[in-house]
Amino acid sequence: MEQPLNYIYQKIETLSPMHSKKLKKNIAFFDERYYEQANSFFARYINILHHDHKTLDYSIDCYLRMIADVNSETVEFLRTGKYTSSTFAEVNQRVYARPETMEYYMHGLIMSQFLWKHHYQMLQYFTDTLPQYIKATKSYLEVGVGHGLYLSKALEILNDNTTLTAVDISETSITLAKNFIKDSRINYNLKDIFEFNNRKKYDFITLGEVLEHVEDPLKLLQKLKTLLSDEGILFFTTPTNAPAIDHIYLFNTVGEIQDIIKAAGFEIETERSLLSEEVSPERAAKLKIAILYGAFLKKSKAS
Ligand SMILES: C[S@@+](CC[C@H](N)C(=O)[O-])C[C@H]1O[C@@H](n2cnc3c(N)ncnc32)[C@H](O)[C@@H]1O
Repeated sequence: MEQPLNYIYQKIETLSPMHSKKLKKNIAFFDERYYEQANSFFARYINILHHDHKTLDYSIDCYLRMIADVNSETVEFLRTGKYTSSTFAEVNQRVYARPETMEYYMHGLIMSQFLWKHHYQMLQYFTDTLPQYIKATKSYLEVGVGHGLYLSKALEILNDNTTLTAVDISETSITLAKNFIKDSRINYNLKDIFEFNNRKKYDFITLGEVLEHVEDPLKLLQKLKTLLSDEGILFFTTPTNAPAIDHIYLFNTVGEIQDIIKAAGFEIETERSLLSEEVSPERAAKLKIAILYGAFLKKSKAS
């Protein structure tokens, strides 16, 4: 097969010329490292799909279904200024408890990690920064593991004797992550994080794009604080103004996210705000264009 990325771009151009135009705007930004990493990821992903009797065409279709969902949620968001769901019960019924929806959503989302510039940049931020915490990380927890890509990167980076735990509320996510990673060292838990009670404290916790999925994000950060060791690190990401079928908590600005970090008793070690489109931050705020925020946090000494 030709390089997977070429194939994906060509296929999307045929199936959705409008979306293809949007994706191509990213191409000017991508460097050699991107092409190497993206092609090697997709080669591995195609193998995993084959084991599950699926093809890359199946995943491209999942990705375009996810884009169609995002587009219709965006129309409503721009009209009302709100996300279409506001309670956990609604999104649980609409998404997490529906294997068919969850399946195309997670395949779509894993594709976006290498097709959307801001998703790719966030993954790089994570993989470039995690190595500085290797020595101190004896136990690692990921909450809302989803497709499993971040966990697979952590597994590659961390020491062999680090214990790894994953929690997700969706059975489909746990199954996909297990298929993607295939490593017996990981302890998977099918649970709502608010019901995950463990006496163990973790040295490093990752929470990728989950905060906007809960009714009370402050409560979630406080919960994770109880699971984190005193010198531990929490890496989390969450977007502003990003309508999706399972988003319920709307952050309007990065400032609102930083406020709850402080209120939960954390300090920011480093942070990134990544624009989802090529516009200035002022224009993004005016037009309500999504910004993906990510940060490495430690417990505040004052709290
Ligand atoms: C948008 S996906 C994020 C996947 C991945 N972490 C990433 O950054 O791309 C959100 C994941 O969080 C899970 N999730 C949502 N609410 C949860 C909760 N209360 N407890 C545990 N997992 C939850 C969903 O099932 C889904 O797999």
